[in-house]
Amino acid sequence: MKLSQILFTQGFGPRRECEGLIASGHVTLNGTPQNDPFFDVDPVGAVFTVRGAAWPYREKALILLNKPAGYECSQKPKHHPSVYSLLPPPLRRRDVQAVGRLDEDTTGLLLLTDDGTLIHKLTSPKHHVPKVYEIGCKHPVTEDQVQRLIKGVTLIDDPVTVRAAAAEALGEQADGLFGLRMTLTEGKYHQVKRMLAAVSNRVETLGRSRFGELTLPADLAPGQWRWLDGPQVLYPA
Ligand code: URA
Repeated sequence: MKLSQILFTQGFGPRRECEGLIASGHVTLNGTPQNDPFFDVDPVGAVFTVRGAAWPYREKALILLNKPAGYECSQKPKHHPSVYSLLPPPLRRRDVQAVGRLDEDTTGLLLLTDDGTLIHKLTSPKHHVPKVYEIGCKHPVTEDQVQRLIKGVTLIDDPVTVRAAAAEALGEQADGLFGLRMTLTEGKYHQVKRMLAAVSNRVETLGRSRFGELTLPADLAPGQWRWLDGPQVLYPA
């Protein structure tokens, strides 16, 4: 593939702009300056830098973001900045999309990708991909509430029954809230908050700690993102 074509597929702007970036000496390929836009490269495994920033070639982008509170998972946010504003321009230009949405006040593991097939697979209820939520509840979480969440609750504003694949009360936390860890395999609108309301409790803080086999890394600060090698990291080995 031509070097300028690679930059184009990776979101560095229109073809002409990519050619200009290379011709004006802003690009290195596998550590060596390369100013021929039409230089032939095998993109797989290639690492290039653009204006000094390293960029690995990815046919499809798959990104893990530690979502901070106060960001909306929307391209056109209404009241808060968009999670997309936390990503560099090439990823935004590639049109990566969030894999499902987290509420504005929810934190934690958010996947983003430009692979439409993968988004469908990960969000389709048919595939039952488990997602783990760490919840701070206003009231003590009783064993009865845990059992009702697992057996299935009817949502107050929607007569459907939804159940947790797993739920575990974690006791009182340092912030005075009552911890609950809950695993869901579907993703209805405000599902965690509505399930807790259905058992007469209330979500005060909510964070997602796991998606499939992938755990939010402890060293990824809120607002930071990193590349994932591919969808295989989400599935059991
Ligand atoms: N359930 C919710 O209520 N909110 C989220 O952000 C995710 C799951």
